[in-house]
Amino acid sequence: MADRYKEISLETAQAIAEQLRSKPTSCFGLPTGRTPVGTYEVLADWSRQGKLDWSQACCFALDDYLDAPEEQTFAFFLEDHLFKHTNLPKENRFNPRITDNYDRLIAMQGGLDLTVVGIGRNGHIAFNEPGTPAQSYTHCVWLTESTRVANAQFFGGIDKVPVHAVTMGMATIMESRKLILIASGEHKKEIIEDSFADGIGPTVPASLLQLHKNLTILSDFDWQQ
Ligand code: GLP
Repeated sequence: MADRYKEISLETAQAIAEQLRSKPTSCFGLPTGRTPVGTYEVLADWSRQGKLDWSQACCFALDDYLDAPEEQTFAFFLEDHLFKHTNLPKENRFNPRITDNYDRLIAMQGGLDLTVVGIGRNGHIAFNEPGTPAQSYTHCVWLTESTRVANAQFFGGIDKVPVHAVTMGMATIMESRKLILIASGEHKKEIIEDSFADGIGPTVPASLLQLHKNLTILSDFDWQQ
């Protein structure tokens, strides 16, 4: 792993670990994609070494495909990269694809304490594509061409990439008490700058994060705010 990617992965893992230690019943919103892989590697290591106790925590996947083979789902990704290495109870692993009333469930568990999000090149957060209203809660979406192209390599071609997904809405994510946005790779620089240097609006969903009171942005590249 390149040094700066290692650093942001460690920092994100540390924030999750601190949250878990200070409040063992914490609820987390967790992303998939290439960016969080390093974070999950660190958390998986610490969990296997018994340094983290997930027995009272809840984890909510941010989003998932609706029409993907099981091994391509984000539920599978989170199992594989994180959950199976931890003592997080199976019944505390939530996914919007297989759970009705996701927002109600999150509220019943006390709300999200810490949510980690990545960013798509078109500014999407989870699967909130450009144009998604700020007031949106968990909903189904049609994926944009750009998002499908970005994920084509995982499916062996654009034709095999699902067209439907389900995602926490921007309001679900904004209601998390803490937010960490992680971005890796120079190809994300332009959208990070557009999201945080310019105005706020649904055309660039990530720009809505400017309104969050406890947002940390971690990137492995320099950018101008
Ligand atoms: C996907 C996910 C997002 C993720 C984004 C960036 O479409 N739904 O939650 O943040 O793409 O992914 P990556 O980290 O692979 O660049």
